[in-house]
Amino acid sequence: PGRSELEPGVEGFGRLLTRSVAMRDAFRLARAAAPTDANVLIVGENGTGKELMASAVHEHSARAHAPFIRLNCAAIPSELLESELFGHRRGAFTGATADKKGLLEVADGGSVLFDEIADMSLGMQVKLLRVLQEREFRPVGGTASLRADVRLICITNVDPDEAVARGQLREDLFFRLNTIVLSLPPLREREGDIALLVSRFIGIFAERHRRILTGIEQAALRQLERHPWPGNVRELEHVIERAVILTTGPQIRVEDLPDTVRHPGTGLRTSSMPIGQSLEDLERLAIVQTLERTRGNKRAAAAILGIHRPTLYNKLRKYGLWRADPLIVGREES
Ligand SMILES: Nc1ncnc2c1ncn2[C@@H]1O[C@H](COP(=O)(O)OP(=O)(O)OP(=O)(O)O)[C@@H](O)[C@H]1O
Ligand SMILES: [Mg+2]
Repeated sequence: PGRSELEPGVEGFGRLLTRSVAMRDAFRLARAAAPTDANVLIVGENGTGKELMASAVHEHSARAHAPFIRLNCAAIPSELLESELFGHRRGAFTGATADKKGLLEVADGGSVLFDEIADMSLGMQVKLLRVLQEREFRPVGGTASLRADVRLICITNVDPDEAVARGQLREDLFFRLNTIVLSLPPLREREGDIALLVSRFIGIFAERHRRILTGIEQAALRQLERHPWPGNVRELEHVIERAVILTTGPQIRVEDLPDTVRHPGTGLRTSSMPIGQSLEDLERLAIVQTLERTRGNKRAAAAILGIHRPTLYNKLRKYGLWRADPLIVGREES
């Protein structure tokens, strides 16, 4: 919707909406930075709207009609990332049966989104830094360099200063990326946004699921406003979609909300161990339930399970839990 259609006090940027001061500050900075070629770093917890913000920055730039390529650094094995980004020449390695364009070439004139940049391997970070400094890159197995005309938009859901301190993010790369930092506050700190987003989501999901709904009961809204929303806007979105489907009345009621929202503190329900299954079945179950708990965040799930992320990815493949294609290029997941 255009800005003029919004009710007073509500501000929009791309598909993002807010009433809160902290988000408006981020919108203001984003509006100023978008038309420039400055690299942008977007920081925020899970589900705070980082990908929507990245799209909005691209769409408000002079590159809006050129490609916008997304790449999830956590999902792509580091051995593959280099040839994905830079492309490769025929014969560069076993299996390279033809020349392949890299994403930097495909995105020529447009923007590239590096999601979860702190998960890029340190070796690859050096190579990316070189691209930023020299504005050119060389396909794997190639001899000639190609010009890189791309604008970088990077996302991280870990604090970049901490990532630098831990040695996970190279300081020299960080200094190149942090010209413009858009920091998206967690939903619980956005005053007025829960009511705003609830009514927006009721509208969207009532239409999608063909329900006639007039809104939400006061008691239910109060309950939503009390919840800490660890999964931020994405969690709220799911809760409202579910409630729209469940409710039988004209308004969403408290009983249409999930237990986690109705009874604060029960989020960490203990599950009993189902005895009589193989270790493999138990492992699969532990992985599935942990991913549910972390709302799909694999980094957090690996941490809880006490394994390294590549190990988690291997297990996801082993148990057929891996989503179709690990190279996330294209529309955002929701
Ligand atoms: N301010 C907002 N207004 C409207 N919808 C929003 C807003 N913020 C987020 N959303 C919705 O919430 C969901 C999550 O947004 P998005 O995917 O951009 O978050 P994210 O920060 O990239 O999450 P993650 O860290 O889990 O990848 C999307 O479905 C998006 O449409
Ligand atoms: Mg995201």
